[in-house]
Amino acid sequence: MINLPEIRIRIREQERSYPIYIEQGGRYELGKLLRDWYQGDRVFLVSDHKVNSLYGQEIGQVLDKAGLTVVTYLLPQGEKAKSFSYLEKGYELLLENDFKRDHLILALGGGVVGDLAGFLAATFMRGLPYIQIPTTLLAQVDSSIGGKTAINHRKGKNLIGSFYQPQMVLIDPGFLTTLAPAEFRNGMAEVLKHGLIADREFTSFLLEKRDEILKLKLAELSRMIYYSCRIKAGVVTEDEKEQGIRAHLNFGHTIGHALEAVTGFNKYKHGESVAVGMIGAARLAQRLNYLEQAAVRYIEELLSSYDLPLSFQYAEDTGQIFEYLFYDKKVKANKLRWVLLKGIGSACLAEAVDEELVKDILEGLK
Ligand SMILES: NC(=O)c1ccc[n+]([C@@H]2O[C@H](COP(=O)([O-])OP(=O)(O)OC[C@H]3O[C@@H](n4cnc5c(N)ncnc54)[C@H](O)[C@@H]3O)[C@@H](O)[C@H]2O)c1
Ligand SMILES: [Zn+2]
Repeated sequence: MINLPEIRIRIREQERSYPIYIEQGGRYELGKLLRDWYQGDRVFLVSDHKVNSLYGQEIGQVLDKAGLTVVTYLLPQGEKAKSFSYLEKGYELLLENDFKRDHLILALGGGVVGDLAGFLAATFMRGLPYIQIPTTLLAQVDSSIGGKTAINHRKGKNLIGSFYQPQMVLIDPGFLTTLAPAEFRNGMAEVLKHGLIADREFTSFLLEKRDEILKLKLAELSRMIYYSCRIKAGVVTEDEKEQGIRAHLNFGHTIGHALEAVTGFNKYKHGESVAVGMIGAARLAQRLNYLEQAAVRYIEELLSSYDLPLSFQYAEDTGQIFEYLFYDKKVKANKLRWVLLKGIGSACLAEAVDEELVKDILEGLK
């Protein structure tokens, strides 16, 4: 077993901090971790059908051993679970089972489960404590960290939600052994993004240890998750509400989100769109003389070594994608704010980038 040092997120406004534990087999420690501070007699476990079929029983046993009654709320798989109706069903079940403000919610699953369970926790009785137990790579390195919770609205993704920090994040890399390769690649895009915006050495590690990581070798996998979480936790600690540096996490997401939206959210996975978006942003940075050609080639090599796409297929005019760039909820006063790189491991923001240049970059990505 590898024991990695604990990472902490410090939330200044609330004057508290919470730990992120990364440990192979960590799920078996859940009972012990809870006994240290939780006084309640029951927990509300939110998961989805797939994750529950794989891990529900053993997690149930761990909680049972800790003397806790478990009320399980199972969501369907996929994005449709982040809806008003599943939120409401969750409130109903909490009320039926007499949950109060000092009870605990556990989110066991990917980003979908984490986002819905987090929002449920944020809003039920004006907030009760919750713990993230992420089971996809994307959730382990990205969505479980930072306290963003949300559901979708028919007008767009994540339009309704809140910033609400968990009590703890418990990451067990062992969950990833059952994850589909496409879901692993999806999370890898965010891992690579973290390296590219903040840590050059980490990107070298990812390139060098690619085979071990893809074979889920424990030492390399755990280290990768650790570095990645440390970068995200560092950014979130500095800027919880995304007023400054947290925007760097949107590297690749400006074009990425537009690409997802214009293709109806079903052609490309989020990670694939972000990969194409990172290539677009890198080329843009190069055209603006922030980045050397060799660095762009390095990024291309890095992404393709993890089987992520460098271009996309789109029969229509890229002008449509350009329009979609402005639909993002992060666009302020109709001004695009680009996250670019000054070098590998160093991000910066740029506004007022020439529109023709952006259109040219989009055309080049086809
Ligand atoms: N809150 C944030 O800061 C934040 C950040 C990024 C993304 N998100 C959100 O996260 C969501 C995407 O999360 P995701 O990519 O984890 O998708 P997901 O939760 O839909 O999980 C993907 C699939 O993997 C399955 N799965 C989960 N764990 C598994 C395991 N260990 N073994 C086998 N199968 C497993 C799930 O059943 C699901 O079918 C989106 O809704 C997105 O908006 C939120
Ligand atoms: Zn993302």
